[in-house]
Amino acid sequence: MNPFTRETAGWHPVGLASEFPSIDDNARIVPRCKAFNIPTKGVIEQVEDIDLPGVLKDQVLVFKYKGKYHAVDHQCPHSSFPLSRGQLFDIEDFGVVLSAGLTCPKHGWSFDIFSGQADRGNYKLKVWEVQLRDLSEPGSTDQEVWVRRKQRIG
Ligand code: FES
Repeated sequence: MNPFTRETAGWHPVGLASEFPSIDDNARIVPRCKAFNIPTKGVIEQVEDIDLPGVLKDQVLVFKYKGKYHAVDHQCPHSSFPLSRGQLFDIEDFGVVLSAGLTCPKHGWSFDIFSGQADRGNYKLKVWEVQLRDLSEPGSTDQEVWVRRKQRIG
């Protein structure tokens, strides 16, 4: 069965939780991430070669940073660079971790991966919703990762 045929209410399955190794250091996202092309109408496809991702407009980047799953637009909101080439880091204030960020290597801007807020200007990275769902097979300890574009309210 094609796992991508089970999309419901805008949610898309993007793989098993165990397929996303946790990134626990301040490190490049590649190779511990996946990208998917998710057009608003059409079929979801995994980006085969993340170093040659093609058109980024409808792509989401999925990864696990310090135990939490994240999904954000693959395209940098500043000037469309692929954020899979970026680097993750903790956002800290006087040694207290407040959030987590992703630095785009093209011009060095950073984005909060929870809120999407850029460290300069009014740019915002689109942050997707992520759910972990139990598998229906009895005895399975793995889960599936599902993502959805954030719905606009109002
Ligand atoms: S393209 Fe990402 S910071 Fe400019």
